[in-house]
Amino acid sequence: MATSLNTKRTIIGVLSVVFLIILLMALWKEVQHAMPDYKAAPIIDEGTRHCVSCHGEKGVGKVIVEQWKDSKHAEVGVGCLECHQAQKGDVDGYEHEGQFIATIVTPNDCAKCHAEEAEQFTNSHHADAGMIMGSLDNVLAEVVEGHAAFMDDANPAAASGCWQCHGSRVQFQTDENGDPKYNDLGILMLDPKTWPNTGMGRINLDGSKGSCSACHNRHHFSIAQVRQPENCGKCHMGPDHPQLEIYNESKHGINFRAHREDMNLDAQPWIVGQDYSAAPTCATCHMSATPDQPVTHDVGDRISWTLRPKVSEKIDAAELAKYEAQGKPLPEDFLTWEQRRKGMKNVCYQCHTKIYVENFYKQYDNMVNLYNDKFGKPALALMKLLKKEGLITPIPFDDKIEWTYFFLWHHEGRRARMGASMMGPDYTQWHGNFEVADRFYMEMVPEVQELIAEGKKHGKSAQADRVAKLLDDILNSEMHKWFIGKSDPEEVARRKAASAEFRKRYSQ
Ligand code: HEC
Ligand code: HEC
Ligand code: HEC
Ligand code: HEC
Ligand code: HEC
Ligand code: HEC
Ligand code: HEC
Ligand code: HEC
Repeated sequence: MATSLNTKRTIIGVLSVVFLIILLMALWKEVQHAMPDYKAAPIIDEGTRHCVSCHGEKGVGKVIVEQWKDSKHAEVGVGCLECHQAQKGDVDGYEHEGQFIATIVTPNDCAKCHAEEAEQFTNSHHADAGMIMGSLDNVLAEVVEGHAAFMDDANPAAASGCWQCHGSRVQFQTDENGDPKYNDLGILMLDPKTWPNTGMGRINLDGSKGSCSACHNRHHFSIAQVRQPENCGKCHMGPDHPQLEIYNESKHGINFRAHREDMNLDAQPWIVGQDYSAAPTCATCHMSATPDQPVTHDVGDRISWTLRPKVSEKIDAAELAKYEAQGKPLPEDFLTWEQRRKGMKNVCYQCHTKIYVENFYKQYDNMVNLYNDKFGKPALALMKLLKKEGLITPIPFDDKIEWTYFFLWHHEGRRARMGASMMGPDYTQWHGNFEVADRFYMEMVPEVQELIAEGKKHGKSAQADRVAKLLDDILNSEMHKWFIGKSDPEEVARRKAASAEFRKRYSQ
């Protein structure tokens, strides 16, 4: 009896200790998870162990392995092969240390696990960013600034400039027979004319469009990195699309920098108004979740105007016109500009009132319409007529006025519109509207007058007269007549009074 009681006690005792240990271990795990720098140990399966044995331990690109070990992918067991493995017959594949792999991991590869993100991205303007060959800007890279055939067709201005943002058409090197070239390790030699490159709309060897690592830097694939504004700023900056500078100037950017630590940038999910509230980043407004909307990988989903062209139009205008011309009904998932704007407003509502946001959009629409009507449309009409009447040549960028006009719409006119869209008043005014006005009145108008005079001198009187008539109509129109001294007398008197009032402020 006594022995069996003792046995029972021992069993209970042992069980209690085991239970206590398990409990403590579980608690310790919880504590670990709650620690700010906690990372689960990477899961390294057989395939990946083989890769890591060289790439990590023997120092071949050691950093790559360290970054991967530190990633969510390593934590959930997505190893080297899960991304780099290729199928026999893939154009980009090659035999490497007993495995068939590809160097470039394309949207098709990521899509094996992230199908929704890949599909949204592929349908976006971002994925088409490599289709710039026929654009006016491309004449700059391949002809005006550079030379497409320079250095054995290396096209340096495009390869190191345009394509690093827009994406190259990736190619491999070939031997004399036109077959793919491999190095002594058997690695397929990608063509330096086209790679390294992580441009947004890169055209990959497997035929897919785009590059997920345009935003998601390898091999951390860190969610915090991709949400910060600097991420988009690799491309969205500079004189013709200064979105990063505009954001930095805006109160949103100011608040982001002041409260970066409170932004919870690595939280998953990351819902504005719930997981953070100090400021929106580019991702917040254009991509990330709200309590009512999921994350989108189509950055056009919340945009209503396109601010890039010579004259802005609503973002769906070109598509709508296409369906109308073909007499086809709109597809069910067609997003109108009104629906897109609704999506963006839903982001704003997490931090602002409806009235506030409505009024902001009114200010923004007014600014886009002002640029369009006062400068965009008249300048475009003048350029078209100059070309049609033969006062300038059909060759792009060989006439001075073509450069003047390019600055007006492609740089300054964009800055004015983009500044207004994202609360950057200096970009709207001094880098924008002011420069547009200076360019129009002080350069474009005198240059048109010169071309008219030249035309008359060189036997093109009738053509020159037609251009003169258009310029005359523009300068006599409501918004431009001040320039030729034809302002309404009451308007002049009102300005004079206001000016006297203003001077008084400083003369005491
Ligand atoms: C025996 C050592 C070894 C093993 C094992 C190994 N690699 Fe490599 N790998 C190399 C070396 C060496 C290079 C060339 C490095 C260089 O050029 O600096 C390389 C290059 C690469 C490249 C880049 C090719 C390029 O075009 O730049 C990739 C991608 C790659 N390895 C992936 C893998 C993967 C995935 C595995 C596991 C299946 C793996 N490697 C296993 C040694 C190894
Ligand atoms: C989540 C997918 C993913 C995983 C996992 C992954 N890679 Fe990569 N890897 C990429 C992408 C994307 C690139 C960029 C290729 C490009 O677009 O140029 C890349 C590039 C590389 C390169 C060439 C880049 C350079 O800077 O020289 C090497 C080498 C490489 N990976 C090795 C590895 C090794 C080794 C592992 C495992 C420790 C690994 N990769 C895991 C996606 C991945
Ligand atoms: C074999 C499947 C697989 C492949 C291939 C893969 N991933 Fe992942 N990825 C995952 C899993 C699983 C997670 C973790 C999911 C989760 O936390 O909900 C993840 C997480 C992520 C995250 C979020 C990281 C974080 O910190 O929360 C990003 C970003 C990401 N992947 C991007 C990519 C990109 C880009 C590629 C291609 C270059 C890629 N993945 C390829 C399976 C994969
Ligand atoms: C710093 C990165 C960067 C460089 C370099 C660059 N672009 Fe762009 N480009 C962009 C961005 C970003 C946009 C979109 C701007 C926007 O939406 O406001 C754009 C827009 C365009 C557009 C308008 C596309 C449309 O749908 O309306 C064309 C065409 C274009 N770029 C061609 C070129 C060419 C050609 C070059 C080289 C001469 C070049 N770009 C250099 C980033 C760049
Ligand atoms: C324009 C930049 C950009 C590109 C290109 C991009 N992503 Fe993302 N991705 C983001 C941002 C920003 C987030 C964070 C969204 C959020 O706030 O949760 C994200 C999040 C993710 C996540 C985490 C899950 C989620 O929805 O939050 C995965 C997985 C992912 N991306 C995969 C991909 C894949 C695959 C591709 C290529 C097909 C890709 N991304 C291309 C910016 C980008
Ligand atoms: C690698 C360069 C690059 C990066 C990084 C990049 N973009 Fe872009 N983005 C472009 C280019 C190029 C275009 C113009 C595409 C076109 O129409 O040809 C563009 C267009 C856009 C547009 C206009 C979309 C439309 O449908 O008209 C938005 C909005 C945008 N990007 C937002 C973002 C945001 C937000 C990020 C960061 C999360 C980002 N981009 C990161 C290159 C980039
Ligand atoms: C507060 C929200 C907000 C933030 C933050 C924000 N944007 Fe925007 N963005 C907008 C709005 C609103 C528009 C105009 C949308 C419309 O036309 O309806 C816009 C327009 C754009 C466009 C379209 C330009 C075109 O050519 O049509 C691009 C590109 C863009 N943003 C990129 C960025 C980038 C990059 C960042 C960060 C550096 C950023 N945005 C930050 C709200 C935001
Ligand atoms: C995460 C919260 C958040 C989101 C989302 C957000 N904002 Fe803001 N916004 C702020 C904060 C904070 C300020 C600074 C308030 C102040 O001046 O004290 C601000 C300021 C502004 C201003 C005033 C700018 C100035 O210079 O006075 C405007 C206009 C504005 N936001 C419009 C928008 C619009 C439009 C959207 C959506 C496209 C938006 N905001 C999205 C937080 C947000």
